[in-house]
Amino acid sequence: MNDVPLVITVDGPAGSGKSTVAKALANRLGLSYLDTGALYRAIAWHLNNHGISAVEGETLTNALEALSITLGKQGVCVGGHNVTSLIRSPEVDGVVSCYAALPSVRRKLLDLQRRQAILPGIVADGRDMGTVVFPCASCKFFLIATPEIRTQRRVKEIRERGETVSYQEVLEGIRERDRIDSERAEAPLRKPENSLEIDTSGMSIEEVVSRMYEIVANVVSL
Ligand code: CDP
Repeated sequence: MNDVPLVITVDGPAGSGKSTVAKALANRLGLSYLDTGALYRAIAWHLNNHGISAVEGETLTNALEALSITLGKQGVCVGGHNVTSLIRSPEVDGVVSCYAALPSVRRKLLDLQRRQAILPGIVADGRDMGTVVFPCASCKFFLIATPEIRTQRRVKEIRERGETVSYQEVLEGIRERDRIDSERAEAPLRKPENSLEIDTSGMSIEEVVSRMYEIVANVVSL
């Protein structure tokens, strides 16, 4: 039996299908699923709610030092409060990338993310999984899709939650988040070296998951 956890990374922009396929792939492989976006969203929610702006400095340093953040089967908790459902709001969508661009926020989450890599292994999704957090992962994927398809998926998701939203509003939000995530100096969104890019635009979830499963099976000889 292997005593090193298997790590599979899935990076890509908003709405590329990462979280849905990463979760399904983890299930199929009997591994845990690590949603790192939830951690950035939880920190952003907390700081924004406490009126702490997205700028480096003493106020932010003190707030991050005092902040306890945990991730478990029940979801993500900050300061002892389970914020799993609160962090998917349009308000958090609008501010998360500004907080995620700050080096001290990223430092706060680095070890926590790495500690989630326990046996038998994990499928981790985010923006810097294959580049910074798990550079030695066994298998790295980079998912892309056109901005229009990504917007359609996100609009459907939001409407299914019973909320109202316009296509244009979501498209602009996604474009802005992509811009901030790719242009930031610290751990920008990039296709990791040795990663396999999959354009999910014309593919169903099942097709993407099956393709990834076959690739993992080849690499780690399941
Ligand atoms: O689901 P979606 O792709 O829209 O977003 P998410 O994965 O929940 O991530 C929300 C935001 O957190 C991203 O737009 C990034 O700004 C940030 N993030 C990051 O910087 N690094 C990660 N590993 C994961 C998320």
